[in-house]
Amino acid sequence: MEWFIGLVGFIFWGLSLGHGQPLVPAMMIFGDSTADCGNNNGLYTLVKANFPPYGRDFVDHSPTGRFCNGKLATDITADTLGFTSYPPPYLGSQPAPKNFLIGANFASAASGYYDRTAQLYHAIPLSKQMQYYKEYQSKVIKMVGKAKAETIFSDALYVLSTGSSDFVQNYYINPVVNRAYNPDQFSDILIQSFTNFVQEIYSLGAKRIGTTSLPPVGCLPASITLFGMGSNQCVGRLNTDALAFNRKLNSAAQALLKKLPGLKMVIFDIYKPLYDLAKNPTNSGFFEARRACCGTGTIETSLLCNARSPGTCSNATGYVFWDSFHPSEAANQVLADSIMAQGISLIS
Ligand SMILES: *[C@@H]1O[C@H](CO)[C@@H](O)[C@H](O)[C@H]1NC(C)=O
Repeated sequence: MEWFIGLVGFIFWGLSLGHGQPLVPAMMIFGDSTADCGNNNGLYTLVKANFPPYGRDFVDHSPTGRFCNGKLATDITADTLGFTSYPPPYLGSQPAPKNFLIGANFASAASGYYDRTAQLYHAIPLSKQMQYYKEYQSKVIKMVGKAKAETIFSDALYVLSTGSSDFVQNYYINPVVNRAYNPDQFSDILIQSFTNFVQEIYSLGAKRIGTTSLPPVGCLPASITLFGMGSNQCVGRLNTDALAFNRKLNSAAQALLKKLPGLKMVIFDIYKPLYDLAKNPTNSGFFEARRACCGTGTIETSLLCNARSPGTCSNATGYVFWDSFHPSEAANQVLADSIMAQGISLIS
């Protein structure tokens, strides 16, 4: 696998050198904490990451609102595509900055496909992210005119990374939802939201869309703590639900591809690469896949990561998980390599 990833990196490097500019003009990013780069910072929500030790391995070693010690998989993807800076968080960027021309990030931690998940945490629901995207479009049109703006919108790469919070931070802990729907029915509601999202963003000009699958939700340290009943192993029931959801997501994507001419869309499988890391960390140079670096994820200590978390590790490189819900930068690198390998058709 290593040689293959190396080859993919080399191909991207070659392509972007040839153009002397990024392989796509812009990235538009939607979703949850796996992609949020600061939209939640100014919100009235508890779900934030704009304080140490978040960001300690990021540019300038400072927290930005990213739920990671360093880069998110979307950041690494932007690097690989040849961007020299990252699409800014939409909410942190008033008045419209010049780098709106390389895209914008609308993702909000604790958001999901299901708008009520975000509402529980005062985060930005996906439908609201779409409204912000429309506002963003009119700002870009004002900046560069309609023709140039439309080229940016149609050549941009759209990334949607969400869904885990619908399960871990809503379905599994919220009797209002889990008494009303079984996992299969709940997944259908989420998939309908995915379909609506893709149809709407396509109608606004999107042609290249990458959507992450669900990760192995049962292997998140928070899941093992909350639902593992004392075991130290991934929670099988949660992983089964995630795999079933992913099958539905892939079918929905196939149906959309048939229906929407000119659309390129890939469902990035992040389940398998993260599951492999969680089950056999040492195969990939990691040594810890159960405890998170910050907020250990064991029941007797806090699930939360902050400067007062006891026992935060000094070097997250060997940890698959940075905090109880989120991969470390090192694990995000593995995910991003896999995403780029799966996504070549989106940029060709
Ligand atoms: C963490 O460990 C890795 C691998 O041993 C090393 O390359 C890196 O420099 C270390 N980072 C810090 C911040 O000490």
